[in-house]
Amino acid sequence: MEFSLTNQLMQHFDGDCAVVFAFCDSENKDLNIQAAVELNHFDAKAGNAMILNNVSGFKTNITVVLGLGELPVTAKNYQKALKSLYSKLKDLKVMSVMLEQVSIEGFDTSWVYRTTARVLQNEAYTIRKISSNNEESNLIESIAIQSGEANARELTIGLATANGMALARNLGDLPSNICTPSYLAETAKSLANEFGLECEILEGDDMHKLGMNSLLSVSKGSIEPPKLITLSYKGNGKSKPIVLIGKGVTFDSGGISLKPGAAMDEMKYDMCGAASVLGTMRAVSEMKLKVNLVVVVPAVENMPAHNASKPGDVVKSMSGQTIEILNTDAEGRLILCDALTYVEKFNPEVVIDTATLTGAVIIALGKHHCGVMANNQELANDLISAGNKALDTAWQLPLDDEYDELLKSNFADMANIGGREAGTVTAACFLARFAKKYRWAHLDIAGTAWVSGKGKGSTGRPVPLLTQYVIDQI
Ligand code: BES
Ligand code: MN
Ligand code: ZN
Repeated sequence: MEFSLTNQLMQHFDGDCAVVFAFCDSENKDLNIQAAVELNHFDAKAGNAMILNNVSGFKTNITVVLGLGELPVTAKNYQKALKSLYSKLKDLKVMSVMLEQVSIEGFDTSWVYRTTARVLQNEAYTIRKISSNNEESNLIESIAIQSGEANARELTIGLATANGMALARNLGDLPSNICTPSYLAETAKSLANEFGLECEILEGDDMHKLGMNSLLSVSKGSIEPPKLITLSYKGNGKSKPIVLIGKGVTFDSGGISLKPGAAMDEMKYDMCGAASVLGTMRAVSEMKLKVNLVVVVPAVENMPAHNASKPGDVVKSMSGQTIEILNTDAEGRLILCDALTYVEKFNPEVVIDTATLTGAVIIALGKHHCGVMANNQELANDLISAGNKALDTAWQLPLDDEYDELLKSNFADMANIGGREAGTVTAACFLARFAKKYRWAHLDIAGTAWVSGKGKGSTGRPVPLLTQYVIDQI
């Protein structure tokens, strides 16, 4: 889809479809539209839409009246309406569309352009079915947004973010027999080729030499070789980089602490942290932002086998700290801790990891907010505010010492689990022990990275949050 800004009157647009907005308890300026609203008793609740043909005064054959709820329009209602609009437009098979100007409570016009492009382009994502007849039909070609300004940069930002989300969603949706650690490494290499990035892939031997025994202990039971992927983007000379780390467990069976069978297929999504940092890298390099960004993905498969790690095993991490693996299903932290030590070499400005780390975060926050924990309050605030702007929200959980004490082990420096209580927090406390040398935050995206049930699929979160955070650092 192509997006543009236009200062045309809605009535003069001669494409396929004009989209005008309606609000609860407020009349439309266009008398013909207002008459149709009244005649049809149209309820302007956010997302409701009414399709009109040949409205007098309009050049298009089709006019969609889209409800945005009460005035002032909230960001949530606008997003909801855009999503519903996209599915209507698809059904109508229109190719060129113009949207009326709108203002959103608490945000400027730049935000409106950026968000409109991102949300509509993201709606255009289709799951690539692994099927012999894969017909792709995306009919909408152009979307013009009514505006008195020239601000195409915001459309580029919105589109690039959606493209990053599409990469993340596609990786997430791929099954684990295709999306292996090697596949993630190949994806990183092709991103590097496409955008001129530096790419380094460490193999098992390399990681062994670096002492990454904690990471390696997770992949031991799998036939898939582990990979440690690094992508670097340089947009700002020699300044310290922002470092993003993404959990890349391409399938989490639980290992010897085997998971129950129900919904185990969804553990192909256990690499959504990795997918989201690769997606963010794609977005940032497409936008050519003036920042330095390093993305690191520890990629492994967690399987049970005769040579897999067993509960009670003790390993020495790259940091030198030893870990008693009481549960082989708490594997995310075991790969992330070595990645956290590894990234010290980049002298990072800040390190943010993103991981489908705990089922407990779904109990705490459901599927709306991701969990954020940090060793620096300003950083947590910045991430929360980026999430609010990007409609990809995060909610903070605490990281007090009292929780950290739950990780005590009789046989090593720490255990890899802290018991039933506050599982999301104790997981983050574990990571915090490896993130003492820099400002660090952790996003637990187990609830937000994909949806289950009938609409099962990857969401592309937290690409919008992370991308907005990077933009905010310029
Ligand atoms: N990948 C899972 C977390 C997860 C579970 C995400 C369910 C989404 C849905 C993670 O590796 C895991 O298994 N965590 C355990 C930790 C426990 C053993 C301390 C969990 O959450 O049950
Ligand atoms: Mn697990
Ligand atoms: Zn996992």
